[in-house]
Amino acid sequence: MKKKRMDCGPSSGSHLFVFLFSLIISVGNAAFNLTTISFDEGYAPLFGDGNLVRSPNGRSVRLLLDRFTGSGFISSKMYKYGFFSANIKLPAYYTAGICVAFYTSNADAFEKTHDELDFEFLGNIGGKPWRFQTNLYGNGSTSRGREERYRLWFDPSKEFHRYSILWTETHVIFFIDDVPIREVVRNDAMGSEYPSKPMSLYATIWDASNWATSGGKYKVNYKYSPFVSEYKDLVLEGCPIDAIQQISTVATCSEANARLKSADYNIITRKQRLAMRRFRQHFMYYSYCYDILRYPVPPPECVIDFDEKERFKDTGRLKFGGSHQSHKHRSRRRSKNHIVSNVDDPIM
Ligand SMILES: *[C@@H]1O[C@H](CO)[C@@H](O)[C@H](O)[C@H]1NC(C)=O
Ligand SMILES: *[C@@H]1O[C@H](CO)[C@@H](O)[C@H](O)[C@H]1NC(C)=O
Repeated sequence: MKKKRMDCGPSSGSHLFVFLFSLIISVGNAAFNLTTISFDEGYAPLFGDGNLVRSPNGRSVRLLLDRFTGSGFISSKMYKYGFFSANIKLPAYYTAGICVAFYTSNADAFEKTHDELDFEFLGNIGGKPWRFQTNLYGNGSTSRGREERYRLWFDPSKEFHRYSILWTETHVIFFIDDVPIREVVRNDAMGSEYPSKPMSLYATIWDASNWATSGGKYKVNYKYSPFVSEYKDLVLEGCPIDAIQQISTVATCSEANARLKSADYNIITRKQRLAMRRFRQHFMYYSYCYDILRYPVPPPECVIDFDEKERFKDTGRLKFGGSHQSHKHRSRRRSKNHIVSNVDDPIM
């Protein structure tokens, strides 16, 4: 956040609020050491080709949603274990009904037994913030959603932020910038519900009017189209596997997986762990781990954090109408403006 913007204009209060949260969540200048690739080096169009627009230098790409179609791209290879990452900027203004997804999956190869790791960004009506959720499926466990839902500590349509999924043999970490926001540590009890078959990376934008915003109450309004989602500084690391033959030599995989293991993003530092805790305490508003009505016994990977749990009802939703306590002290104008209002749940 630029300092200049803080002390001017009618909305300086909300800027200050966002600035404070970016300090709370920040882990300092610990950007990852990443090798970026061009679009054609790693990806191919998936659908809505006419709505996929490469930049002249081929290093960034825009996905458009208009009244005719959404669009998407897919990694040219599948990976068994990997790090999937991009700097992404989401559509601005009125984005109700829109879903922008950045995820790994193998549903095309394994229809009934697929694995999946998701970031799903859910648009909102004008003046209301984007939300997002993360999820995990293994071996076709689609009847056992593992959703967590969150707000963001910044406006994702204003600037690029890096969204990353790390998937190794031992754990999954979802990152925003250098902040780990969710870690799933594999354990034996998860069995095949821990993703364990090669997956591709997908990025899509599509019309999810029937569920994305307040349970489908607000639809996509094409008056505001095209909706543009932009991707750059693309990163694909891990062991690539030919999508058709699905074979790889053990030797190449062990090398690639060793590289993943020794990468800076594979270790959560003490500072990052604190940032993750703060993020989850302030910005998570639903977790399947606390949804006792749905899962009387939380799935085996759930680590029950008692401070975290205290904030949630037995439905896994926040106790206090979606706001956390510090909001009580905030002015009405501010709470209307920014990433704090939680009255509508985008899914239920
Ligand atoms: C960044 O990664 C590259 C190759 O992956 C490595 O050669 C380089 O030493 C790394 N830089 C730092 C600062 O760790
Ligand atoms: C995955 O699910 C299929 C179908 O339910 C089952 O036959 C298979 O054994 C499972 N795989 C593992 C590794 O458990």
